[in-house]
Amino acid sequence: MNYDQLVHANAILNALSVIFLSFGYYFIKSGDWRKHRAMMISALVVSTLFLVSYVIYKLNSGFAKFGGEGVIRIVYFTILFVHVMGAIAIVPLVPITAIRALRQHFPAHKKIARITWPLWMFVGISGVVVYVMAVHIYPYQGS
Ligand code: HEM
Repeated sequence: MNYDQLVHANAILNALSVIFLSFGYYFIKSGDWRKHRAMMISALVVSTLFLVSYVIYKLNSGFAKFGGEGVIRIVYFTILFVHVMGAIAIVPLVPITAIRALRQHFPAHKKIARITWPLWMFVGISGVVVYVMAVHIYPYQGS
């Protein structure tokens, strides 16, 4: 298996989580908590698959090197840094938020969800940005 291909699978899983999160937010704001639950569990599933696939990719392929030069390198590594910090932060936040909801502790769920949802969304969107920049716009040309 060529592990380099996993970078594309990861980006798709990441993009899917953004779509599920958007619908999940839309559904809770329109009062449909069952559809909200379905979307959030779907986001949780694709994000977990992403995490597994990402770890396999990292262990086998290392880092996707960035080929851009000059100012764009600063822009890219700044986005990458905040993306990684956000990703680390959501690892405990997401299960805590989901468990509170599944135990029907809804006021507590709502309180933490106001931090978890935007942060998770940010991590998903910045993940897509980092992928498009490093893999498609500024791919590393050296060996
Ligand atoms: C980690 C996954 C989840 C996230 C990030 C999330 C996010 C959110 C957000 C952003 C809100 C709206 C808060 C507001 O009005 O400001 C909310 C409310 C709510 N969520 Fe979730 N949710 C998740 C999982 C779930 C699950 C699995 C269920 C069902 C068991 C659920 C049930 C609800 C309910 C009933 C509300 C309304 C609470 C209220 O208004 O008192 N959520 N959630």
